[in-house]
Amino acid sequence: MKYTSLILLGVAPLAAAFPASVIQAVKNDPQLQARADEILEKRQQGAGAATALFEPVPLFDAEQQYINIGPGSGHEYQAPGPNDLRGPCPGLNAFANHGFLPHNGYATITQFIDATTQVVGMGPDLAGFLAVFGAVIDGDGLSWSIGGTPPAGVGGPLAGQGNGISGSHNKYESDASPCRPDLYETGNDYEALASQFEQLISMSPNGEVTLESLTAFRSVRFDTQIANNPYFFNGPFTGVQVQPAAYTFIYRFMANHSADYPYGYLSYSTVAEWFGMTGQPGSYVANQGQEKIPANWYKRANAYPYTIPYFQADLLAAAALHPKFLNIGGNLGKTNSFAGIDVTNLTGGAMNSADLAKGNNAACFAFQFAAQVKPDLSLNLLTPLTNALGKVTSQLACSQLQGIDDSQLMQFPGYKRSAQ
Ligand code: HEM
Ligand SMILES: *[C@@H]1O[C@H](CO)[C@@H](O)[C@H](O)[C@H]1NC(C)=O
Ligand SMILES: *[C@@H]1O[C@H](CO)[C@@H](O)[C@H](O)[C@H]1NC(C)=O
Repeated sequence: MKYTSLILLGVAPLAAAFPASVIQAVKNDPQLQARADEILEKRQQGAGAATALFEPVPLFDAEQQYINIGPGSGHEYQAPGPNDLRGPCPGLNAFANHGFLPHNGYATITQFIDATTQVVGMGPDLAGFLAVFGAVIDGDGLSWSIGGTPPAGVGGPLAGQGNGISGSHNKYESDASPCRPDLYETGNDYEALASQFEQLISMSPNGEVTLESLTAFRSVRFDTQIANNPYFFNGPFTGVQVQPAAYTFIYRFMANHSADYPYGYLSYSTVAEWFGMTGQPGSYVANQGQEKIPANWYKRANAYPYTIPYFQADLLAAAALHPKFLNIGGNLGKTNSFAGIDVTNLTGGAMNSADLAKGNNAACFAFQFAAQVKPDLSLNLLTPLTNALGKVTSQLACSQLQGIDDSQLMQFPGYKRSAQ
């Protein structure tokens, strides 16, 4: 039985997410089937296990997957100016630097959905949720800033509104990010750090960053922040959903694709360009806001967008290797004082902590918690959020939780500080 490990994790029903016509085509072609078996053989266990489920046949189409940023494309790199907004997300910073988002870093929901689906192959479901969540939590309901609060005059009728994703700690922005510091440890949550990038590279053997090396690096980052940040907090949404995205997006969206590497190959130089790093292993320099899409770069196959179910399968595969990733809780004001909460209490008994590792529970819980987050502005923006969340939770067939009681989280100073 090929996909045993994910079936045990309860992800099996999501297998329906790939096109039946594609599977049939492979079954009918012994050569394709042999090649699929050979490539997937290596990928059935561990961090990359979901690849076998969601990309059953290696596909590559150079013409469709090429992203042209060359001369005359209209997407040449242009460094941000002093008034352009840039923040904690290297993907969005790079999009703005290449004119796939407005260069000033303030964009509408539609612009975020178009850029993420077209440039890197994000699933429309994931793109729609992430874009709406940004607008409601950190923006004016329609638009939001990829950095801090936009200057007056930028944006539409509610111009200059919302704190942007740089100002959304514990709402959108999380602790233990790959290459950004923790807000309450350093006072900054958006600056790119060469030291953390060096660590990622040094933990990625053979010149290649993989989902396996990223997951191992995430485990070290998680432990490092428990050891160094008295206010470390692994939140129900930010810790359970955003933190893993910050790691899996690196491989799933930044890797280069080719006939030889249909699932993506992420070299040191490709990941360095995406992160705005110059130099070599051992001498990297972080150039703030200077993230780039590499030249001659090919995105993921059009038939295999990175959807919410695909992302959840990656998230659970990582948690199966490191169960602590699903521990909601934090340090108690001192380093190395991590205490986890009992999910039973947060959910009024509907779910316990062990349930989080099963099926879609982690996602259902996190997205329903996200629905309770307080927007930066006290506008009546909750309808679009409720709709976006409703789509996610019905896609995942979540059972409705009866509200989530966050009073238990107030014991964590890292949560309390941003909840006030
Ligand atoms: C609308 C879509 C997106 C939204 C709302 C979004 C939002 C965010 C936020 C809030 C963070 C900070 C999380 C943290 O504290 O670690 C972040 C980080 C990150 N994002 Fe995005 N993002 C989006 C699309 C993308 C894309 C398309 C990519 C890849 C091309 C990407 C790659 C990353 C990475 C790698 C990090 C971690 C950065 C680091 O620690 O240095 N994101 N994103
Ligand atoms: C992506 O792969 C193709 C095929 O191997 C190669 O020609 C191209 O230079 C690669 N792009 C990057 C950014 O490494
Ligand atoms: C759960 O809630 C009850 C009642 O509020 C409390 O006594 C108990 O300590 C809580 N359990 C945990 C693990 O926090």
